[in-house]
Formats: sequence, C-alpha cells, structure tokens
Amino acid sequence: MPTTGLLPLPRTTALLLLLLGTATLCTGLKCVCLMCETTNFTCETEGACWVSVMLTNGKELVSKSCLSVMDMKAQVYCHSSNNITRTVCCFTDFCNNITLRLPPAPPNTPQFGHVELTVIVTIPICVLLLAIILTVYTCQRRYGTYRRTKRQCIEEPLTECNIDSDGKCLKDLIYDMTTSGSGSGLPLLVQRTIARTVIIQELVGKGRFGEVWRGKWCGEDVAVKIFSSRDERSWFREAEIYQTVMLRHENILGFIAADNKDNGTWTQLWLISEYHDQGSLYDYLNRTTITIGGMMKLALSIVSGLAHLHMEIVGTRGKPAIAHRDLKSKNILVKKNDTCAIADLGLAVKHDSVTNNIDIPQNPRVGTKRYMAPELLDDSINTHHFESFKCADIYSLGLVYWEVARRCSVGGVVDEYQLPYYDLVPSDPSLEDMRKVVCEQKLRPNIPNQWQSFEALRVMGRIMRECWYANGKARLTALRIKKTLSQLCVEEDFKL
Ligand SMILES: *[C@@H]1O[C@H](CO)[C@@H](O)[C@H](O)[C@H]1NC(C)=O
Ligand SMILES: *[C@@H]1O[C@H](CO)[C@@H](O)[C@H](O)[C@H]1NC(C)=O
Ligand SMILES: *[C@@H]1O[C@H](CO)[C@@H](O)[C@H](O)[C@H]1NC(C)=O
Ligand SMILES: *[C@@H]1O[C@H](CO)[C@@H](O)[C@H](O)[C@H]1NC(C)=O
Ligand SMILES: *[C@@H]1O[C@H](CO)[C@@H](O)[C@H](O)[C@H]1NC(C)=O
Ligand SMILES: *[C@@H]1O[C@H](CO)[C@@H](O)[C@H](O)[C@H]1NC(C)=O
Repeated sequence: MPTTGLLPLPRTTALLLLLLGTATLCTGLKCVCLMCETTNFTCETEGACWVSVMLTNGKELVSKSCLSVMDMKAQVYCHSSNNITRTVCCFTDFCNNITLRLPPAPPNTPQFGHVELTVIVTIPICVLLLAIILTVYTCQRRYGTYRRTKRQCIEEPLTECNIDSDGKCLKDLIYDMTTSGSGSGLPLLVQRTIARTVIIQELVGKGRFGEVWRGKWCGEDVAVKIFSSRDERSWFREAEIYQTVMLRHENILGFIAADNKDNGTWTQLWLISEYHDQGSLYDYLNRTTITIGGMMKLALSIVSGLAHLHMEIVGTRGKPAIAHRDLKSKNILVKKNDTCAIADLGLAVKHDSVTNNIDIPQNPRVGTKRYMAPELLDDSINTHHFESFKCADIYSLGLVYWEVARRCSVGGVVDEYQLPYYDLVPSDPSLEDMRKVVCEQKLRPNIPNQWQSFEALRVMGRIMRECWYANGKARLTALRIKKTLSQLCVEEDFKL
C-alpha cells in the first residue's frame, strides 16, 4: 500500500470531514456513533443523528451514527422503515442513544418526533440500501473489531461483495441506485466499507494532487485517487462535488466512495471511482486516430457531460449549477464504447441561485494555464457572476475540441497529436506566456482549411471559433453546442 509523503492530520478534523461528508466544518449536533472508536463513539454533524435497526439472519442489528446534511437531503436514510428495518433521524444531542426495536407489525415512528419528512421513498431504493447496509454489518459482525474487519475483508473480497439473496454485487447495487436517480451517493458508512475492501493493484497515473491507482473491488476494476494529507482540501472538495445531489451522469466520472484512513499519525485520503482503462482523452488521442463519426461521439459526449454540470435543476431534488474550472484533455476519460466522462472535479465551483452564492474561489486563477480563458489570464473575469465561470469552461472546451478534430482521419490525412498552442508557447507555459499569446496577440489554434470540405469538421471549426471569443458572454453555451452536435449527428446519420 502506498504511503508516500503523508503528513499527520489531526484525528478529529479527519473524522469530522468524513462524517460531515458535505457541509463546512462547524461544530454541530453530537450523536452516538458505534463505529467511531477513535472519538469515544461519538460524532458531530450539521445534519441529524441516525439510528437504525434491521433484521439480519434472524437477528436485530443496530447501527448508530451521524447523518450528513447531504445524506438527509438525499432522503433515503430517515425514512426507510418497513417490517425488517426501522430508522430514526433526530435532531438533539445524543438523541440516537436509544434502544430501537423492530415492531411486530409494520411500524411508524411518530413517537420519536422530528421525523419531518415522511416522504415515501421509492421502495427499490430502500431495499437496495438495506441490502448494502446489511452487507456492511455482516462484514463487521463477522470479524468483530473494525481493525480486524478491514484485514479480513481484504483477504476475502469476493465473499464480502455478494449479497446473499440474489448474489448481486454491491457494484450492481450502486449502479441501480444511481440510475434510479436517487441522487448524491452512498452513505458514508458504506463508502468507508467499500474503501476498506478495495485491493490496490497498480499505479496508473500521477496528477496535481496525488496518485491514481487501479484497484479491484468486487472483482471489478476501480480507480483510486490517493491524495496526500496536505491536499486534504482538494480531496474534501472533490468528494463533496461528486456527491452533489443529482450529479450522476453517464458523461461524468462515476463516483463510488471517499474515505480517509487515519491511524492517529498518518492519514491517507482516498477517492474511489469507476475505472476506464482507455485512460484520458489526452492519452487516447495521442495513441489513436479517429473517424469523423468517432469525433462526433467524443465531442457530443463531452459536451453532454459539461451541459449537465453547468445546468441548474431547480426543486427539492434539484442540482446546483457547477463550473469545472479545469477542463482539459487530461481530465476527460474515455470509456469502453469511446464516449467520454469528465473527471477531476477538485476545482469546481457550485452556484446557489437562491442566495447567488458562489461557493469558493478565493483565487480565480486556478486550473491549467494552457487552457485558461483570456479573461482569466488577464484577470478581468467577474468572479461575482457565476456565468463567467461557465463561459471560461466553454473556452477550454473549444481547445479540447481542437485537439480531438485534428486527430480525425479524412482522406488518409491526419495531423499529429498536439496540445493547443503547442506552436506558440513553451511546453510548460507561464501565465505571462499565455497572456501574451491569447490576450495581447489574440491568437487562437489554427483551424485548417481542409476542414471546410467535411460538414462535421466545418461545424466543429465553427463551434471552436464561437468558443474562443475574447468576450466570454459571446461564447456558445454547452447546451447550444450539444443541440448543434446532436442535430448534426442525425443529419449526417452517424451511428453513435
Ligand atoms: C467517553 O464517553 C464516556 C461517556 O459516554 C465518558 O464517561 C468518558 O469520560 C469519555 N471519555 C473520553 C476520553 O472523553
Ligand atoms: C413483511 O411484509 C411483507 C409484505 O409487506 C410480508 O409478506 C412479510 O410476511 C412480512 N414479514 C414479516 C417478518 O412480518
Ligand atoms: C447513552 O445511554 C446510556 C444509558 O442510557 C448511558 O449510560 C450513556 O452514557 C449514554 N451515552 C451518551 C453518549 O450519552
Ligand atoms: C500509521 O501508519 C504509518 C504508515 O503505515 C505507520 O508508519 C505508523 O506507525 C502508524 N501509526 C500507528 C499509531 O499505528
Ligand atoms: C504523445 O506520446 C508520446 C509517447 O509517449 C510522447 O513522447 C509525446 O510527447 C506525446 N505527445 C504530446 C503532444 O504530449
Ligand atoms: C456507452 O455506454 C453506456 C453505458 O456504459 C451507454 O449508456 C451509452 O448509451 C453508450 N453510448 C454509446 C454512444 O454507445
């Protein structure tokens, strides 16, 4: 197991981070937490205290912990009561220090009060959750202490992955859960168990914030991004963004779990996601050439992911608008069927349209210099206006499209793979290098004449130009590009 460059991190901070899962670090409600042996079996949350009892192999298994605000919002925790499970959420200190029993008849839980949202969650979600939690507890119960659990589960990953009833793997359950649109992600308890049963296999990449490993979990490949504890904020941020309610989309990297492994002196921060063995778009384009149809498929899938990120969905099951802020070919993954998934959301910003609050950028000039929009390079961006960040993403998208289109093989001719501005700036350009080229000389990547002879390439060229306007507001929106490309696919009859 890799333990490079890890610094100590105060235990409580780490634990809080884990337990809050989402919200800011403020002290909140104190609850009993049966798995929190490092904090005297208590935890703190901005959300609710949670207690649940479920029938497992004829015995009642109890769990108590904190519930993050996000989990509460996902509405799958507080209300999964039926005749084999019963759950209570409550909102005063240690209110989950109660003995909860399964009633003989189908229960309701009014005597505990404060169970505000008696929303009927779709039954499949409850059943799935139950099954997942059941597995977690079977695992813990079987091997006693947490430490032993960890070791044993790693030794026997496959048996722990199977849910006894129909042999479904947790992975299938996650998939079912996420495609049923239940929202944010798995409960932290489950995430932690997953993280601790992943077997790390090989280093597949190094990024700004740490290493990416291929791991095995339930017999399937997963990607494990390991942050060093000095990048705790990035880890927390990325996990938080991935767990935004309703973020799931086939063109956004599928998040599985976040975990911090803390033994008191060392902390390792993990982020587990789907694994795509074709690697990044950057590697893919450098390795292969593509057909026009292949280009359309890549381009449309990228913008579909971006449009979903950018889109605000209003309502209780809504999603905030999110800007990526570091879009580039290295941060886009290519899936098995040659469509893309946008990854690396560690720099993303969310927008709350009700309060008009943009939730961070102390420093707007983050991201990769080569892909920075002109208004970021010359620092003229209006950071109080969320749309500005979306417009900056669109500029970067145009550059990614340029990288893609050049690798299109038309009439046997294809350009070698290059990064945007390869001919104008050094290999690791400074902000100043980029500013001179992009803002002062107003140069943009070259759009070759031969693209004019092919409808799809012609349209792509036009889109790129409209992504590269110096004035951010004049650029196309992701949704507009998505519509244009979808329509083109229909007209040109590309098989996607
Ligand atoms: C742990 O909690 C118990 C009661 O819940 C308390 O008596 C004890 O002092 C606590 N220990 C520490 C180290 O906080
Ligand atoms: C639980 O409820 C189902 C129907 O909702 C019923 O068929 C089953 O017998 C019940 N199980 C127990 C243990 O009461
Ligand atoms: C929980 O309740 C038990 C018995 O009612 C008590 O001994 C214990 O101190 C309580 N724990 C906390 C953390 O309040
Ligand atoms: C924590 O883990 C690190 C690295 O694996 C190890 O060097 C250290 O001794 C461990 N500390 C404790 C208290 O177990
Ligand atoms: C493409 O891959 C080759 C071999 O790994 C590498 O030398 C080259 O720098 C890559 N091209 C770009 C533009 O990064
Ligand atoms: C690619 O695969 C995903 C499922 O993995 C599927 O939903 C999607 O429709 C496929 N896209 C194309 C263009 O084949």
